Amino acid sequence: MNNTLKSEAVRDAVKTIQLIGIGPGDDQYLTLQAIHAMQQAAVFFLLEKAGRGKEALVNRRREMLARFAGERDYRIVVVPSPPRTMTASGYQEGVREWHQQKRTLFANLIDNQLHPGEHGAFLIWGDPSLYDQTVSLIAEQVATAPETLKLEMIPGITSVQALTAKHCIPLNRVGENIAIVPGRYAETCDLDAIDNAVVMLDYNASFQRFQGQDFDLYWAGDLGGADETLLAGPLDDICATVLETKAALRARKGWLMDIYLLRKRRGKVES
Ligand SMILES: C[S@@+](CC[C@H](N)C(=O)[O-])C[C@H]1O[C@@H](n2cnc3c(N)ncnc32)[C@H](O)[C@@H]1O
Repeated sequence: MNNTLKSEAVRDAVKTIQLIGIGPGDDQYLTLQAIHAMQQAAVFFLLEKAGRGKEALVNRRREMLARFAGERDYRIVVVPSPPRTMTASGYQEGVREWHQQKRTLFANLIDNQLHPGEHGAFLIWGDPSLYDQTVSLIAEQVATAPETLKLEMIPGITSVQALTAKHCIPLNRVGENIAIVPGRYAETCDLDAIDNAVVMLDYNASFQRFQGQDFDLYWAGDLGGADETLLAGPLDDICATVLETKAALRARKGWLMDIYLLRKRRGKVES
C-alpha cells in the first residue's frame, strides 16, 4: 500500500470525538472555531438533565445546530445525563459512582453511535475545561485506543468571562489572586479564605455567609439566556434581593444556573 492510501485507510478507521465549548447560552458567544467544528460532525451527542424545564437546555443546543451546523444530514442523539448519585458513603463516593456511569455512557455512545471515519461532537456549555468532567472521562477512553480514537477540544467562552463582561469588571484586581471555587467550598470554608472569588455550582446561596464582612457581590443568573438577570452592589445591601430573584427565577423556569464574584472591598484600588 502506498503512503497516501495508507494514511487514507488510517483516517477512515479513526473516530474523532470533538468537545465543543459553546459558551454560556447565547449564540453570539459561539466562536468561529466552534462553528467550524459543528460543521464537521456527523453526529451530535446531547446530554439531557432530568428536571422541570431542563428540556430548554437541549432545545437551545438544537437551535444552535439548526443555525450553524450547515444544511446537511447529521444525527442528533439525545441521552439522559446520569444524575449525581447521593450515596450513604458520602460525597466522594457519590462522585466516583457518577463518573463511572458517565464513563459507561460515553463508551457506549462512541462504540455504538459513532462510526469509523466520522466526527462526533459533544456540545459543552461554556468551556470544556471548566467544571466539566467530560474531557477527563473521554480522554481516558481515547488513551485506551489511540489508533482508532482521536480527541479534539474547542475552547469556549466561560460563564466566568460572560459574568465579568456583563458587569464590565476585571476578573482580578492588580496584584491580587483570583479563586474559582464551587459552592460546596464557599459553603464551608473559613470566611477569611476568600477575598476575590468566583463561585460556581452553588446550590445553597453560600454568599449569605459572607454578609457583614465588607464584600461586593456581582451576580448573574441565566447568562446568555432569555431570563438573564444581573445584580451588583455591596453584598449586605443586595443579598435579600439576590435571594428573592433566584427564588423567583427558579420557580418560573424550574431550574437556574447562576454564578457570582465575591470581592472584598478595599477602598480605592488602582486598576
Ligand atoms: C457544570 S459547570 C459548567 C461551567 C462551564 N463549563 C463554563 O465554562 O462556564 C455549571 C456552572 O457554571 C455556571 N454557569 C454555566 N452557565 C451559566 C449561565 N448561562 N449562567 C449562569 N451561570 C452559568 C453556574 O455556576 C453553573 O452551576
